[in-house]
Amino acid sequence: MKRQKIDKLLNSDEPINNIRIKGWIRTRRDSKTFSFIEVNDGSCLKNMQLVVDESMPGYDNIKKLTTGSAVAVQGDLVASKGGGQKWEIQTRKLEIISLAPENFPLQKKRHSDAFLRTIAHLRPRTNKYGAIFRIRSEIAFAVHHFFRDRGFRYVHTPVITGSDCEGAGELFRVTTLDPSKPHLSDGKVDFSNDFFGSESNLTVSGQLSAEMFALSLGDVYTFGPTFRAENSNTSRHVAEFWMIEPEMAFCDLIGNMDFGEIMIKHLIRFVLENCLEDLTLFAKFVDKTLMKTLENIVSSDFERLPYRSAIDVLSKTKRKFDYKVEYGIDLQSEHERFLTEHYFKKPVILYDYPKTIKPFYMRLNDDNQTVGAMDILVPRIGELIGGSQREERLPMLEKRMEEAGLSKEEYWWYLDSRRFGTVPHSGFGLGFERLLMLITGVTNIRDVIPFPRTPGNISF
Ligand code: 4AD
Ligand code: MG
Repeated sequence: MKRQKIDKLLNSDEPINNIRIKGWIRTRRDSKTFSFIEVNDGSCLKNMQLVVDESMPGYDNIKKLTTGSAVAVQGDLVASKGGGQKWEIQTRKLEIISLAPENFPLQKKRHSDAFLRTIAHLRPRTNKYGAIFRIRSEIAFAVHHFFRDRGFRYVHTPVITGSDCEGAGELFRVTTLDPSKPHLSDGKVDFSNDFFGSESNLTVSGQLSAEMFALSLGDVYTFGPTFRAENSNTSRHVAEFWMIEPEMAFCDLIGNMDFGEIMIKHLIRFVLENCLEDLTLFAKFVDKTLMKTLENIVSSDFERLPYRSAIDVLSKTKRKFDYKVEYGIDLQSEHERFLTEHYFKKPVILYDYPKTIKPFYMRLNDDNQTVGAMDILVPRIGELIGGSQREERLPMLEKRMEEAGLSKEEYWWYLDSRRFGTVPHSGFGLGFERLLMLITGVTNIRDVIPFPRTPGNISF
């Protein structure tokens, strides 16, 4: 007999005889002549309640069952007599697959997120983390559907690269050289002996590769792991995260903003419609204003304003910031959150940033000072999306690369795209974990990724 998933059974329209489930015990309550056992199999937030009568063969073993133990159950799905659930299982046979000892860390009580981070291998067995990772899976599929429905092709951009797309130097080196005796030439490590014959690193963004495919297939996206060795121990940064990056040929900055706005709204609507049970847990226990925040995002027109105007707003407010506001600064999350949470009270798209604080590939505006960048800021997170119209004009791009100290020889293939049939094109990167924080109300990025990688932490 095949095992059935609890989510399907709980949604049944009628009683079903002779079913089999497998899962882990959450709680057990004994009365004189029978026991109630709550079993969870990870398929949904809710547990299945087992009713085990003392007349069941092997009932004595039931008293041994501890929280965390794994069981296989046979019985009938019947209407529950108690409140709280529609269905329960009248148990005929209960087989213990394995008994968890009493020191199983997830006993029935509330645990802090900080504690659960120290047992990241067990935390998906809690209600909250089970819900987070089910939602994460659902949204990942929704992302692929979203693009496919709009004619985008999915490109697998490389994880190991020789380029630094963002030019911020936050690279994790990839090497097979022996660190204790590297081959030196003129006092410097000679990477010509390394695996790839030159310096290589984990990618910080799939954009440069995605651009080549947008200029071939039209509309493309990449969705994969991304790595940054920035030593910022904040609640919004991890060293390994997943980024969704669309890249669109024949698309300008306005088209890029429109698309980012549509995508964020679509994904939130998707979760509201398809993950409501799990989402309700967050609205109840994590952030009481969650539903209001999400509904507000879905129903509002995102505010759009140039970087310069944002600096004006920030300079004029009475609010004190830790980091001084002046034209030319890279906005900090305190500034971004003030704009989106307090000032406009909805998502904000900032555009036309000074070229000095943005990477080489962004399109230079006619003022020669700003570039066609756009960041989308959302409440509680700050920057969710970073993107731009790309510099499609070869001479301008070469000049920007010189200014940034990048080698035109190494980026010959990237420059080729501007030599052969270059067209206006645009794209952006959306941080998948930050989207999950927005949607669940979870405030620490370490809690929406299965095994977070942060400075000084590579456990699990
Ligand atoms: O703004 P970023 O650096 O943009 C790029 O990398 C572009 N090449 C993307 C593109 O145009 N195709 O990063 C994009 C997004 C940020 O807005 C943020 O949501 C997320 O990636 N992000 C991080 N998320 C978690 N941890 C980090 N350390 C992150 N760094 C960026
Ligand atoms: Mg950015």
